[in-house]
Parts: sequence; C-alpha cells; structure tokens
Amino acid sequence: VSIHDQHLHRGAGGELHQFAENRQDVLTTSQGGPVADDQNTLRVGARGSALIEDFHFREKIFHFDHERIPERVVHARGYGAHGFFETYESLSDVTRADIFQRAGEKTPVFVRFSTVAGNKGSADLARDVRGFAVKFYTKEGNWDLVGNNIPVFFIQDAIKFPDMVHAAKQEPDRAFPQAQTAHDNFWDFISLTPESMHMIMWIMSDRAIPRSFRFMEGFGVHTFRFVNADDQSTFVKFHWKPKLGLQSVAWNEAVKINGADPDFHRRDLWQSITSGNFPEWELSVQLFDQDFADSFDFDILDPTKIIPEEILPVRPVGRLVLDRMPDNFFAETEQVAFMTQNVPPGIDFSNDPLLQGRNFSYLDTQLKRLGGPNFTHLPINAPKCPFHHFQQDGHMAMRNPVGRTNYQPNSFGEGPRESPAKGYRHFAAQEQGTKVRLRAESFADHYSQARQFYISQTGAEQRHIAMALTFELSKVETPVIRERMVAHLLNIDETLATTVAQKLGFRSMPGPADAAIPTRQDLEASPALSIVER
Ligand code: HEM
Repeated sequence: VSIHDQHLHRGAGGELHQFAENRQDVLTTSQGGPVADDQNTLRVGARGSALIEDFHFREKIFHFDHERIPERVVHARGYGAHGFFETYESLSDVTRADIFQRAGEKTPVFVRFSTVAGNKGSADLARDVRGFAVKFYTKEGNWDLVGNNIPVFFIQDAIKFPDMVHAAKQEPDRAFPQAQTAHDNFWDFISLTPESMHMIMWIMSDRAIPRSFRFMEGFGVHTFRFVNADDQSTFVKFHWKPKLGLQSVAWNEAVKINGADPDFHRRDLWQSITSGNFPEWELSVQLFDQDFADSFDFDILDPTKIIPEEILPVRPVGRLVLDRMPDNFFAETEQVAFMTQNVPPGIDFSNDPLLQGRNFSYLDTQLKRLGGPNFTHLPINAPKCPFHHFQQDGHMAMRNPVGRTNYQPNSFGEGPRESPAKGYRHFAAQEQGTKVRLRAESFADHYSQARQFYISQTGAEQRHIAMALTFELSKVETPVIRERMVAHLLNIDETLATTVAQKLGFRSMPGPADAAIPTRQDLEASPALSIVER
C-alpha cells in the first residue's frame, strides 16, 4: 500500500498551472458547470428581488466569504522564494543526514523571510527581527531550519513566549501600534526581563532594519546536534552568510521608505529573482563537543548567547540559491508550514528550553492556521521524497491509503514497515534529575554578551543604537519603564546609559538594575511603582 501519489507532486502550485492553461476556456463553477452570465444575479424581473435558487451566485459569494485564513500569530508578514541548496563536501564524519553526505548534492528549498511583530499588511522596514525560515525537501523528508536574522532571542524559556509576543504586538484596548516596538507594553516587558538585554542590543542596532532580505544573515539560534552513523553527537550552530554582504538602511531612510513603498523588501526580492539576479547565502556551521561547551562561563543551551566566531570560526558547508518566485503567493508563501521539529535522521535537538517549547508550538499552530491535520497534502508542504504512512481521513484529505490495509503489522504483506536501520533514531542523551521548574544558574549572566555586542560596533553604529533607544523610550509614557531600561543599560555600557538618559531628559541617574526577574513583591515594594499609573 503506497499512499504516495506522484501525480499530486508536480511541485508547489501545480494545480494552478491547470487554471492558467485553461484561461481561454468557458468559465465554470467550482463543480465544473459552465456559466452563461457572470454579471447578473438571478432575479424576478429585471428590477425584482434576488432568488435563493441562484446557485451560481451563492457558490461564488460563499467561496469569496471564506478566502481568508488566520494570519500567523507571529511572523504574519512574509515573502518567500524557491531555490536549491548545494552541499560543498561530505560531513559524514559528524552527521548521517543524507543532505550532507555528497559534495555537489542539490536539494530543493523554499525560504520565507518575515517580520515578527507586524500584521500581514504592515510595512517592510519596521524595526524588527526578520524571520529566515528554510524548508529543505531532502531525500529523507523535510528539514525545516526556522531561524532569524539575529543569532539570539529575547527569552530563555518558551513558557514566556506568549507574554513576550503579547507585549510586542498591538495593545489590546487600542489596537496599536501595529508594527512598532516603541510602546509601553513592549518596553515594560523588556525592562522586567533582564535576559532580553542581549537581544535588545541587536534589535536597536542597524541589523533590525536590513536594506533587503538579500543583504541579511540568518541563524538557527539554538544549539542543535549532528548525529553520525555511529550515533555519536556533535553540537552544531547554523549560520547563513549572504554572498552580497550585510547592509542596512538608516532609521530616517526606513521611515521614508515605509511611507513611500511599504512593500520595499518584497519588491526587491521579486525584482532581483525575476530579472535573473539570484540571491545567494552560504550555510556555515560551528561544530563543538561537550568539553568545549563546558569551557564557557555561559550555557550553550541558553538562546540568549552566541558562541563568538573568533573563538569558534564558522565553517561553510553549502550554498543556498533562490532562483524562482512562487506561482501563487497564497498557495505557497502563505500556506507553507515551517516546524522546528521537522528534522531528518542525523539532525537532533539540544535541551535548549526555547527550542523544546518551539517543537510543540509549530505543529499546534499549523493545525489551527491551516484548518486541520492534512496540511502536508498541500504541495508546498508535501515531502518531495517517496513517503508511505497510514494516516488517513480528516478535513480535506487528498491522499488516503490505497487498498485493504491501513494498519501495520498486517498479515497481507502489504504496506510500509518501520526500519531501525534507515529510520530516525533519537540521540540517546543521558538524562536524569529531579522534576523542577527552575532556571539553571548557568543562564544567569544577561549583560556580558550585550556589552560585547555593543563594544563590537563602530562609532556610527553605537550612535545608531543610542538614537534608537532614545526614540523608542521617548514613546514610552510611563516614567518607571524608562528608568528601569536605563538601569539595565548601566549594566551594559555606562556611556550608552548616560547618553540615553540625557537625551530623555533625566535629572538624575537610577542605580544599576538587578539581573533577576522582579517578583510581584519586588514590584509592589518598588517606590517607582507609584508612578506606573497612566
Ligand atoms: C513563526 C522563528 C521562537 C512560535 C516563526 C517564523 C520564524 C520563527 C522564522 C515564521 C515562519 C514562516 O515564515 O512561516 C523563531 C525563532 C525563535 C522563535 C528563531 C527563537 C529562537 C518561538 C517560540 C515559539 C514560537 C519560543 C513558541 C513557543 C511560533 C509560531 C509561529 C512562528 C506559533 C507561527 C507559525 C505559522 O503560523 O506558520 N518563528 N521563532 N517561535 N513561531 Fe517562532
């Protein structure tokens, strides 16, 4: 029993080609019935009431009424393209993943770039993280490397993600700002979340307003594992380096571009690919073992930390080329479903508590967003390798098991069976401990890498960070939030903190912030809280 139907895999948008070929034919209903008049509803006399019998009208309007699906809960605004990944050399010593076995191997990919906070119709040049999500259609199933253009994240534990996203997006009573971090809720959350300080330095830097998608880096962020044929594990961090180099726009340019052309990044990718100017990135890895990990005073499971490239240089392992725009934005870019848990044999997870939470969240959200369990039947989400399973039915099932048996084992010698040799084997990590809700002490330093990042910037870039913080915090109406932020900045760089404080008109400086998340009691005891009213 093979439920793999090659006919359904003509590639994303295959069905749409049928429409295009039929362009000159007679207009039909979706049931295939030919239409005689698509301009007038059926009515009683030319000026009379409409008839419910008008199945043509009802079908057309019913379908239109249902055109929208929920936008992504984050990363709602995005733009995608097809291309390929080419492996430079075999990495069989560290991973059994088929995609990394042979030099010159080409794997089809679909990539979606996005902003995080803004809604689907927001402007492209908002100050924000950019998503950099890659779906590799490998010979061993889909591998989704769902990354960002910034190598660290706001929070260390996935349980904080809903709060972080609520605070970043529009405030629920007023429904604005729609794509701006410059508001009280965002900075309130950040000022109460010391672990976000490293990310905040990146977000306030020029990295958060890229000139185009073609000029930005990408990062897998978390520490992942490679696992080889002997079941040995090597830690790995993934980096995408743009062949064109890094470029950003200045804030005043971004503001103007957003007004003049909110589709600036979309247009740039469309024009460059359709004119044969294919953007390219190199995939690089940082590979290391447990002893190396233990040599740091930060934790390699902490997604607010990087491993500096001066300490562990990145090694290029392949290139990504984007050479084809989707035929249909909705069918492909909107309906593509990235999920961190899509990994082929040879790629595995670390215990990063953010990654572990993501591995639950993405499947859950796709079920809701794409309307049920059969979203892998959509061409953009289907694997491009043979696949055989007994999943069946559900809304919109396009492929069901063929024949009698839809279970295994069975006595009829039919259908696929599991394969310990070829199948996915989870790395047999040693685990033991007490069940707790506790952040490891090794996750406690929130300022050192924030400082390193700030210091690594040129003078002009540092000024941009100070200007961005000043602009953002000047939009914050609640004084204590500004004060708390300046108190955090004091732990990062004193000159930065005093510059921002002066520009905001502080009469005196607060003391440095505490690196712990304040408890409710802390906040109640804080005299500043008396001015939190707004
Ligand atoms: C969407 C990256 C953390 C939940 C996305 C997308 C990217 C991304 C690139 C857009 C995918 C697309 O283009 O369709 C990241 C990175 C993270 C992170 C790099 C941290 C390092 C999290 C966490 C959660 C989460 C902690 C939840 C616990 C989601 C959800 C979506 C999403 C629900 C919407 C997916 C969809 O509807 O298609 N994320 N994310 N993310 N992310 Fe994350």
